[in-house]
Formats: sequence, C-alpha cells, structure tokens
Amino acid sequence: MDEHTKFVKAEDCNYYGGRRYPKLVTEAVFDAMKTFEVRDDDIWLLTYPKAGTTWMMEIIHHILDHGIEGYKISTTDRALYPEYVKPRGPSNYELLKEAPSPRFIASHLPGHLLPPQIHEHRAKIIYVARNAKDVAVSMYYHHKVDPMIPKYQSWEEFYDAFINNDVIFGSWADHTLYWWNRRFEDNVMFVTYKQMKKDLAGMVSQVARFLDISLENQIKGIADKCTFQNMKKNAPRQHPNILGAFKVDQSQSPFVRKGKVGSWKSQFTVAQNDLFDERYKEWIGDSGLTFTA
Ligand code: A3P
Repeated sequence: MDEHTKFVKAEDCNYYGGRRYPKLVTEAVFDAMKTFEVRDDDIWLLTYPKAGTTWMMEIIHHILDHGIEGYKISTTDRALYPEYVKPRGPSNYELLKEAPSPRFIASHLPGHLLPPQIHEHRAKIIYVARNAKDVAVSMYYHHKVDPMIPKYQSWEEFYDAFINNDVIFGSWADHTLYWWNRRFEDNVMFVTYKQMKKDLAGMVSQVARFLDISLENQIKGIADKCTFQNMKKNAPRQHPNILGAFKVDQSQSPFVRKGKVGSWKSQFTVAQNDLFDERYKEWIGDSGLTFTA
C-alpha cells in the first residue's frame, strides 16, 4: 500500500492517503467509490464541509418535490452521502446502488476520490463553494458537537490545523479548485454561498433550470422554506439522521448556526488574517478563484 491508498484508523478520525476523514468514512468506502456506477440522471451535490451543503440540499429537495407542502421523506434520507457508513444497516453506497432514478447524492469527498464514472456520464453536478475563512469558523464550531470528528481545545489549535490543510476531507483549496477548474463543463454548476445569500429566489430558479425542472409559481414558496429562520426551525424534521443517529449535540452549537457571510471577522485576529491571506494566495495561485468578504 502506498501513501495514496493507505487507510489508517486513529482514535479521533480515520486517515486515507494522508488526509483525515470522519470515523463514519471507512476503508470500504474508498474501494466502493472506484467502481461505483454513476447514472446519467443522477444529481450530485458536491461541497467541502460547511460550505452550505444542507442549505442547497434543502433547495434541491424542494425543487425535486415541485414545492409541495411537507416531505415524503426527510431531506437526509432523500440525499444520501455515499461516504457515510451508518452505525447500523446497509451502507449508503449500497443503498444508492438500488435507489430509483433520479438519485440525489451528496458528497464531501475530494474530486479525485469520487467515482471516476462521474466524468464519463451526463450526471448533473452542483458544487457549492464558500469563502475559506467562513468555512474555517463554521467547521470549528461543528467540531465541538460532532462525535465522529476530532475535538480541538481552542480556536487557535483548529486554525493551525486548517491552515496546514490537516482537517477532515483535506485541503479547502484542493477541494474547491478541483471543481472551479471544471466550472464551465455543461453538466457542472458552480455556485457560491454568497450568491445564495444575495438572491435566494434567483438561486432556486437557476438550480431548477439547471435540473430541467419547470417550477412556474413555486419558486418564491421554495425560497421561503429555505430561509435561514425556516431551516433553523425545521432542522430536526429535515435532518433526523445527522442530528439523531450520529448524536450531534446541538446544545453547544446549533447545526444551522449563524448563516452569515463574513462572520470570520469576529473570530480571526489580525495576525491570523494576515497569515491566512498569505497562504490563500499560495493555494489559489493564478486560478482566478477569489472570494472576498
Ligand atoms: P455557519 O456555521 O457559518 O452558520 P453545511 O451544511 O455544509 O454543513 O454548512 C453549514 C453552514 O451553512 C452553517 O454556517 C449553517 O448555519 C449554514 N446554513 C444552513 N442553512 C442555511 C440557510 N438557510 N441560510 C444561510 N446559511 C445556512
């Protein structure tokens, strides 16, 4: 086994190819992904953790349901993460093999570890990117409540891990650049958290068009269901798996937390910000990827 395929189980997380992963991501997942069959009518929602996955998941779920009231199933049952292996029952990647089309699949896996077939099919790919500084802060708070990922003693400790790309799912930059560099492919829609904040109804309409789903009068209603306030209120109903089976303890930090662009400003010190900006320049090089705020 070389460094790229080595799987190691540690006490607080698992490692694969030198990157950290939540304990729910087992060795079998990486093997399964190599041969996982992608379908032309799949919808893949791809994100780095804390980029706004749950928000976009909710939007897509309502679009697929044509904005009907209530849910046939919870959002986290509708959109399965193939990389997560639940404590009991069949793995998500096994469930997905049998799932009827169109499948709705979410994943935090870095691009190079996704099924190779994703590039050979016409599956629709929606990538949500978020400002790295806000992601770092959001992730820090998430680490306090999720038992499947490492615990950090302080913001300073987490900041160091993030800036050295030693966090779950690896480097923010590698993850984001992979899809930024493919953003003009016909079946790829690259959007940002900031764009979602700026015009939610516009985003609902754009996503529906991308998915070839005609919504007519339901756009405003769907946007309303997906506001920060409404998602916060409905989180337990929409995400019983995340909040229940994995025992995410929301008492320290709620799952739908602040929902702001630029909240890093009240967390970073001036020195942390300066160093982050330096690293950021190195990460993104001349790719043209920039997020301000
Ligand atoms: P914060 O921790 O900055 O508040 P993910 O779903 O990828 O884990 O991302 C979680 C982030 O998205 C959290 O950010 C959460 O509050 C935010 N979020 C969830 N629903 C949202 C909504 N409807 N509007 C704005 N932000 C939302």
